[in-house]
Amino acid sequence: MTSSILVTGGAGYIGSHTVRALREAGRRVVAYDTLELGNAEAVGDTPLVVGDIADHDLVLRTCREHDVDSIVHFAAYKNVGESMADPGKYFRNNVDGTVRLLDAALAADVRQIVFSSSCSVYGTPAVVPVDEQQPIHPESVYADTKAIVERVLHWYGVVHGVRSVSLRYFNAAGASFDATIGEDWTYALNLIPVAIRALLTGDQELQVFGDDYPTPDGTCIRDYIHVDDLAAAHVAALGYLAGGGDTTAVNVGTGNGSSVLEVLGAIERVAGQPVPHRIVPRRAGDPVSTFSDTTRSNALLGWNARHGLDEIIETAFRWHTTQLEATPSA
Ligand code: WQD
Repeated sequence: MTSSILVTGGAGYIGSHTVRALREAGRRVVAYDTLELGNAEAVGDTPLVVGDIADHDLVLRTCREHDVDSIVHFAAYKNVGESMADPGKYFRNNVDGTVRLLDAALAADVRQIVFSSSCSVYGTPAVVPVDEQQPIHPESVYADTKAIVERVLHWYGVVHGVRSVSLRYFNAAGASFDATIGEDWTYALNLIPVAIRALLTGDQELQVFGDDYPTPDGTCIRDYIHVDDLAAAHVAALGYLAGGGDTTAVNVGTGNGSSVLEVLGAIERVAGQPVPHRIVPRRAGDPVSTFSDTTRSNALLGWNARHGLDEIIETAFRWHTTQLEATPSA
């Protein structure tokens, strides 16, 4: 039987795009998700096992039944603010859950892992663009859970021969070009879904967290990367491991920075109307500017981003508009 890829969190935002990209690359996939935050419809006809990554027996049985040879591990809580209010919830799920997942994977002789890490492990970067040699200095519990799991993967490599790629995402955004999968804005606190929601529903205005930063227009700069480019990076990382690649960490971004006001301008161009917003004081912990140095992702994975900010906004806007038309009460 052809081996499969186990995708934890496969019914989630980036997970479902990666499931689709793997299927389109001809790989067999089994998605694994609690559906606490995920959407079963997003995985289409891909086999879906509903369960927790901490469930040793279910993970082991799933790996054996589907002849899993690699794992793409997305399943985690990711709300920075919530992590600072309830650290235990984040360390139990994101860290302890991953350790239990890895132990079940080992019992099934699975030793290739692509891990969903984050550029937030750098905290406020000392230098931009940010390369992988920058010091790890997480500034939130969420970010620290990502940094800790990277260290767990290092030691599981040293002791158990697990080989992994930790992908340090920059700002994931956008939706599928056919508007069939995308981000659920219900829980979203990130700029682009919040801004589009403010424009389309008016049920909440966008608060711009500060316009007095030392940047050209006074607002913070981020590296927004299309979710399909992120998905492609996971396919490339699996190919790197299949080719015998050693454990490593790689930044995944476009290498281009966009300010908050530039993002609002792109949304206005696509929607044909301005985003209702109000400038409010800075948000604690926001780096002035961060965007990726793409050298390592290009060289090691043979990957680079193909989509820019306009396509991110176009696909996100089309997705949320489609969702609203389908469920007006959303
Ligand atoms: C972006 C910019 C805000 C909301 C995210 C994830 C993090 C990591 C990196 C994956 C900032 C401004 C935002 C709003 C605003 N990804 N903003 N009003 O903080 O860069 O981090 O990407 O792990 O986990 O959280 O993303 O979208 O919150 O902020 O002005 O209502 O938009 O100040 O400059 P962030 P964000």
